[in-house]
Amino acid sequence: MKAIVFTQTGGPEVLALGDVPKPDVRPGMALIKIQAIGVNFADTRFRQGTYVVKPKLPDTPGMEAAGVVEAVGDGVTDVRPGARVAAFTVKSYAEYCQAPASMVIPLPDVVSFVDGAAFPIQVLTAYHMLHTADSTGPGRTVLVHSAAGGVGLAAVQLARAAGARVLGTVSSDAKAPLVREHGAEAVINYATEKFADEVLRLTEGRGVDLILDAVGKPTFEEGLRCLAPFGHLILYGRAGGPTDPLNVATLSPKSQKVSGFMVPTVTRNFPDRTRESAERCFALMREGRLRLHIGKTFPLAQAADAHRYLESRQSTGKLILIP
Ligand SMILES: NC(=O)c1ccc[n+]([C@@H]2O[C@H](COP(=O)([O-])OP(=O)(O)OC[C@H]3O[C@@H](n4cnc5c(N)ncnc54)[C@H](OP(=O)(O)O)[C@@H]3O)[C@@H](O)[C@H]2O)c1
Repeated sequence: MKAIVFTQTGGPEVLALGDVPKPDVRPGMALIKIQAIGVNFADTRFRQGTYVVKPKLPDTPGMEAAGVVEAVGDGVTDVRPGARVAAFTVKSYAEYCQAPASMVIPLPDVVSFVDGAAFPIQVLTAYHMLHTADSTGPGRTVLVHSAAGGVGLAAVQLARAAGARVLGTVSSDAKAPLVREHGAEAVINYATEKFADEVLRLTEGRGVDLILDAVGKPTFEEGLRCLAPFGHLILYGRAGGPTDPLNVATLSPKSQKVSGFMVPTVTRNFPDRTRESAERCFALMREGRLRLHIGKTFPLAQAADAHRYLESRQSTGKLILIP
């Protein structure tokens, strides 16, 4: 089958279309014929060899896909061949992938393969930060960094759907209208403004209750400055570089909380909760309260261009590859 293969870590140019064996269907697994592949920022780090999971060269990137189940392995009873599904998987920049049955999410008929591929990682990361790691609801104010990105736009909408007030940051004015259209009350360009000052102004000096921060070094300390008493900062990525070590004692004066988050903590340990949260998000999609913004779609062979675009900070929403 066709797949994107890289034989050395490095820039987008290391990604090339090649031929690899189609995976065998193993016990407990589902073999999926892929229709659409989700591109994640973490894929760019995996390609560089700087992600928590290291490539075993030659390797294929990709953590999620949507398609049709072609076969299931021994012991699989809750996923059937022919089903339309999305899945958390590995090596999904390809025509086929294999996923543990517990990581397969059935797709409602109204959800396209493209939306299905856009869904598992970014939407469920946003959902579980807001509702598992935190308890977002009416009366709370949430600051979403990189709010025009994949996780960002999902988080803005899900926080709004939960009744929270939402503020967002972006690095260019061009992205701000999109974030507002998806439910943010105010959008701050953190490349040109001191976002903490602006957040304090917008909240009359109180600060926000929750910050979703995957930028890291450039935003973390300023975030603590505009975090309300008992506020919670979730650090779930480091696109702008790792943060300096935190002296926990600095959180005491305002009784603040900082936590980490990785979506596999939910998907690997709580498969029932994963499916239940997917159902809730599908319901919001049916009601039109969660719209997956597909920023751009590329043929699989152009995976390197998709990575270049994601790393350029120009992209919005989700990038998709079509095999
Ligand atoms: N912990 C988890 O389970 C989990 C799951 C999914 C994603 N994540 C993390 O969440 C973040 C967003 O992921 P995504 O896939 O949805 O990507 P994305 O937000 O669509 O794209 C990345 C965005 O990061 C922002 N950014 C800030 N500093 C950057 C830098 N130095 N270089 C490049 N981009 C920078 C850019 O937006 P602006 O220029 O507007 O700031 C860029 O558009 C990533 O850091 C990712 O690793 C974590």
